[in-house]
Amino acid sequence: MKEKIQSLLAEVEKLQASNEEELEALRLKYLSKKGIINQLMADFRTVPAEMKRELGMRINEAKTAITDRFNELKSQLATSEEDHSDLDLTRTPYPVKLGTRHPLSIVKQEIVDIFARLGFSLADGPEVEDDWHVFGSMNFADDHPARDMQDTFFVESHPDIILRTHTSSVQSRVMEKMQPPIRVICPGRVYRNEAISARAHCFFHQVEGLYIDKDVSFTDLKQVLLTFAREMFGPDTKIRLRPSYFPFTEPSAEMDISCNICGGEGCAFCKHTGWVEILGCGMVDPNVLEANGIDSTIYKGYAFGMGVERITNLKYQVKDLRLFSENDVRFLDEFMSAN
Ligand code: DAH
Repeated sequence: MKEKIQSLLAEVEKLQASNEEELEALRLKYLSKKGIINQLMADFRTVPAEMKRELGMRINEAKTAITDRFNELKSQLATSEEDHSDLDLTRTPYPVKLGTRHPLSIVKQEIVDIFARLGFSLADGPEVEDDWHVFGSMNFADDHPARDMQDTFFVESHPDIILRTHTSSVQSRVMEKMQPPIRVICPGRVYRNEAISARAHCFFHQVEGLYIDKDVSFTDLKQVLLTFAREMFGPDTKIRLRPSYFPFTEPSAEMDISCNICGGEGCAFCKHTGWVEILGCGMVDPNVLEANGIDSTIYKGYAFGMGVERITNLKYQVKDLRLFSENDVRFLDEFMSAN
């Protein structure tokens, strides 16, 4: 009997069934009422008592092995018999949830593209900056009250290291690396220590522009900004420049565009003035050129800086700034068609 079980166990691994009939034949042979296992059980009754323990264990072992193998063959057969003939394996899976570009990325790219067509190339600088590039080189004196205009995040252990409060720092980064002619556009994230609300956030995005060459005038600046405004908001867009103050430009101005929500008639968005401010600009202060290694007796320049959130709001009327950083897909999905 021992040998019988032994050879049975050796057989098990080799058992095969390529269809239902063969599988059924195996079941009948081994596992049915009159099958080999049951026969062994019957023979077991006549086994001498002292061998019962060992042989009993062996029979159980054989039964389990055969049952397992049988189930394995059964499931193999079931999967191989599934009908795949009507499956088109080249078809795109459905539904395909495509990601969309973030509205701020869409608008930033649009801004960069417009200036690229006007000959501006892309420049970049670090978000974690030093005081010199953010303030010093931009003509903010140490005790300059203008530093208070921007609530700065400082690194406690390194008071000289800050999160940049504006992309104007990239102007300095560019000037220290290259001599005029310089014509760059610098998009990036900036940080200010503000309480977060629908109208303010502790980080937002700006695009900085800088042009330095021999004969650069305020008229050039105005023309470039007018072209930008019309490309961005439509050919009927008007601009107006109001005198302003920035430490790094002289003269300085803020630019408004005719409100593209009400077409200049007056609405809640433009506070019924018909105009909305979109950027700051001016002629680069000679002190800034000199501080960054450019001869201000030979070169002149203009610069401008705009907020990407503001422009996005104007284009898409997003009422709450926080939506831009919450990554709520219901909000992001709304920009599907703008991608
Ligand atoms: N840096 C200014 C700000 O963050 C914006 C700005 C104004 C940039 C005038 C400029 C400029 O380049 O000429 O508010």
